[in-house]
Amino acid sequence: MRTNSFEETIALGEKIGTYLRPGMCLLLEGDLASGKTTFTKGIGKALHIHKPISSPTFTILKIYHGDLDLYHIDAYRLEGNDYDLGFDEYMSEGVTVIEWPQYYEDHLPKEYLKISFEYIDDDTREISFSYQGEMYRELYEKVTGESHD
Ligand SMILES: Nc1ncnc2c1ncn2[C@@H]1O[C@H](COP(=O)(O)OP(=O)(O)OP(=O)(O)O)[C@@H](O)[C@H]1O
Ligand SMILES: [Mg+2]
Repeated sequence: MRTNSFEETIALGEKIGTYLRPGMCLLLEGDLASGKTTFTKGIGKALHIHKPISSPTFTILKIYHGDLDLYHIDAYRLEGNDYDLGFDEYMSEGVTVIEWPQYYEDHLPKEYLKISFEYIDDDTREISFSYQGEMYRELYEKVTGESHD
């Protein structure tokens, strides 16, 4: 699907955010400025997180408290390092959103919803979805309106 403004991407994140359950993990793939953090702000809205969601340059993991806690990971700075954040110990209680998951490959959960962001032009992004694990099938179907079998 396409969004034609950053507000539409926030709205999409908010919609998906309302479907999230404890222990769920979203992987957000896409180049710099493709909209991953913008989307995460929408998740924050759905979870009633009042603190602004940002991505400070050197912070890998930020925890926000809301209806569910949000573990927001930006793995960009981990590129080339095998560093274990150990988040799997507590992620079952909240939802985990990981930007740049390819830089945290060895430690990703086996099951997730993956969302890929592609820059089309200044205001337009192509956003596509895939999933691993039965737990995510229903979420995928709600988000895309497609059924997969
Ligand atoms: N349709 C759109 N969806 C999302 N962002 C958009 C859109 N149109 C324009 N933008 C702008 O693109 C930028 C996206 O930045 P954002 O921080 O969300 O990217 P990112 O993928 O998290 O980048 P990084 O890899 O650096 O963390 C913002 O400045 C936003 O306003
Ligand atoms: Mg970001």
